[in-house]
Amino acid sequence: MADRAVVRASALAKINLSLRVLGPRPDGYHELRTVFQSIALRDTLTISRTRGPFEITCSDPACPTDSRNRVWRAAERIWREAGRRGELRGASVRIVKRIPIQAGLGGGSSNAAAALRAFAALWRLPVSLRELRGIAAGLGADVPFFLEGGTCLGLERGDLLFPLVDEPRSWVVLVLPRFRVSTKEAFAWWDEMTQSSSRTTAVGGMNDLEAPVAVHHPEIGAVLRRLRQHGARQTSMSGSGSAVFGLFDSRTAAERAGAVCRRAIGSPDDAARVIVTSTVNRTRYQVLAAPHLPRS
Ligand code: C5P
Repeated sequence: MADRAVVRASALAKINLSLRVLGPRPDGYHELRTVFQSIALRDTLTISRTRGPFEITCSDPACPTDSRNRVWRAAERIWREAGRRGELRGASVRIVKRIPIQAGLGGGSSNAAAALRAFAALWRLPVSLRELRGIAAGLGADVPFFLEGGTCLGLERGDLLFPLVDEPRSWVVLVLPRFRVSTKEAFAWWDEMTQSSSRTTAVGGMNDLEAPVAVHHPEIGAVLRRLRQHGARQTSMSGSGSAVFGLFDSRTAAERAGAVCRRAIGSPDDAARVIVTSTVNRTRYQVLAAPHLPRS
């Protein structure tokens, strides 16, 4: 890519088609067997070269814009990788957020992976995909998936990835409950539940975190039932929640179910809490997620 002052990147969300928690690991994480699936819902990162200190701005006021944001940590890692010293500087990142935060859709992790690739392009770093994967794994268990996209099996912390054959496109209805769930908390609830019931996996369901999260937020169960009643061929909570999704074969069926869920949720303010989108295969993902120069 030419040496330009601005690079733009799309950061697509994911759902987990299945998520088995096999048990706690000595490093504080949990051993997983999960199937990640990219979806078309996406944030946009615009990274501009500046002369001032590093900064992040975000369209969602609930999203941190300091070093708690994984984009900040991604920039720091790439900065050091480039052999630069001192405080991070010389770039500003504008994030237009459409992926709800703390919803189990991987928004923060996807932003981090997009930032790694965009900074490598902006600063023209000769960093290999293998090196990027190593850096990504250090930023969070889900981050490496967002360098691959499509459908992937994730083992260990979810970061040992095996690309799977693409399924035909599905339409996805996402229902976003008002509450958020932190990933750490969801795994702690799983620990509590399995310790008290001496089970290692929840019975049934596609997601082992669903039952422990639903104990604290029974609304999850109601949303799953509603999606099933309205024709979803598969329903599940995504990741550690709180988003719940239903898969449909046609856009019409998905839009219809989405409308029912919107009505059930009630007030017009909450209408944005139902999103109809689709799955994205790996080839398309690589096109959509590639850092590029903005057109204007
Ligand atoms: O890696 P990341 O920062 O996204 O993970 C957030 C938290 O979620 C971890 O600190 C850990 O508590 C929990 N987690 C886990 N097992 C995983 C992934 C995440 O216990 N495989």
